[in-house]
Amino acid sequence: MGCQSNSSSKNATEPTYAIADGAQDLDPKTIAADLIARFGPTAMDPRVSELIPGFDAPFYQAGLAGYSDAAMRIIARRHGCPICVTEALLDRTLLAGGKGFAKADLGDIHDNVPGGEEDHPLIGQIMGSEPSEMAAAAIKMIEQGKRSNKEYRGMVGRDLDDHDQLQTDGKDSFSGIDINLACPVKKIAKKSRGGHWLREPEGAIKILKAVREVLPDHIPLSVKMRRSFDDTDEMKANFLYLFDAAYDLGCSWVTVHGRTVEQKYVGPSRWDPLRALVDRNPDRLIFGSGDIWDVNQIFRMIGYTGLTGVSVARGCIGNPWIFKQARSILAGEDPQEPTISEQRAVLEEHFDLLLAVNASTRDPEYLTARNMRKFGIRFAAHHPEAAEVKKEFIHAKNLDDWRTALERWYV
Ligand SMILES: Cc1cc2nc3c(=O)[nH]c(=O)nc-3n(C[C@H](O)[C@H](O)[C@H](O)COP(=O)(O)O)c2cc1C
Repeated sequence: MGCQSNSSSKNATEPTYAIADGAQDLDPKTIAADLIARFGPTAMDPRVSELIPGFDAPFYQAGLAGYSDAAMRIIARRHGCPICVTEALLDRTLLAGGKGFAKADLGDIHDNVPGGEEDHPLIGQIMGSEPSEMAAAAIKMIEQGKRSNKEYRGMVGRDLDDHDQLQTDGKDSFSGIDINLACPVKKIAKKSRGGHWLREPEGAIKILKAVREVLPDHIPLSVKMRRSFDDTDEMKANFLYLFDAAYDLGCSWVTVHGRTVEQKYVGPSRWDPLRALVDRNPDRLIFGSGDIWDVNQIFRMIGYTGLTGVSVARGCIGNPWIFKQARSILAGEDPQEPTISEQRAVLEEHFDLLLAVNASTRDPEYLTARNMRKFGIRFAAHHPEAAEVKKEFIHAKNLDDWRTALERWYV
């Protein structure tokens, strides 16, 4: 299990608004108009679009372990999402090559390779414990495995030099690398990773330094963090120390999730610490995450906090329309709910894309029908008969079951 919550476990709660006094009174269209007045039609700080051309709106699709594969990303892009992040990939997993993936707890690599021409720009997220492993994993990701696995593993534990010059054909597979210092899943083998680095910031700093050093200048490095490990003063100070260090080491931006590591995904996030962070660092690029359940929350988070932009996570599972709605608000229009025929079209597209993602597996249809369930139950929420549709999707075992469900409910 990766950074994910499990609906049957205690680490996920029903959608609630973030703790942010007065945020729900803010008008999304006014916030969008203010952004456009400040930055022009994209509403995006031009420094971001300079780093990654195509990152042309103040939101992106977050890494979501178990969900944000090429299929989900492409659907999001077709609805106006400017850029996506892969789920967190463990450095060890990346370096182990094919065989290691079976044992890995963070999903399959084939879900995380760029899904063709349409799947750009894409940011690859890595997570791990050893600076040199993380650096080698970043190289492997950028190069998309141009060398042998042995060569990548050989980079671990030694200083990387000219010999390790990146081997790319001038076409970047990933437009950026993001380091996960946020995942709440427990330490393994007593080694920190993800959000647990907030208790040992010096270790995280070594990782950021090692990865930044091996990446070419034109590839931005960003970081995902929780607002603190817990609510003690010591941990809050650790957060600020690490946050500052990230920028000092050349990271382009940090995305801060407004929950603590200890909180996992339980209870509301807090937007006040994010607002305080922007007040403290008005010139830094900072993105926010936490409780973006609908399009209004995208703009309210930006309006309330002053953040550069927002990462959309659980709010876009089975809801790619959130991106289209955000583009509508930027255009000064009213966001529209998807019609039944639009919902059906997207369900069919998602199914076809998942079949392509699963093409190399033993039984792509079976796997796709299973994978599609977790998306289907979220898509069903848009249907007037949501409970009935959800029930049918949960029981869909094969392609025919899906076809029958669509014929019954989406005509
Ligand atoms: C199932 C699941 C998987 C996640 N996987 C990742 C991940 O791989 N990388 C990451 O940076 N964040 C991951 N997150 C965190 C989200 O990107 C986001 O920060 C968090 O869900 C808070 O936003 P929300 O309340 O709007 O969902 C995951 C969250 C969930 C629920």
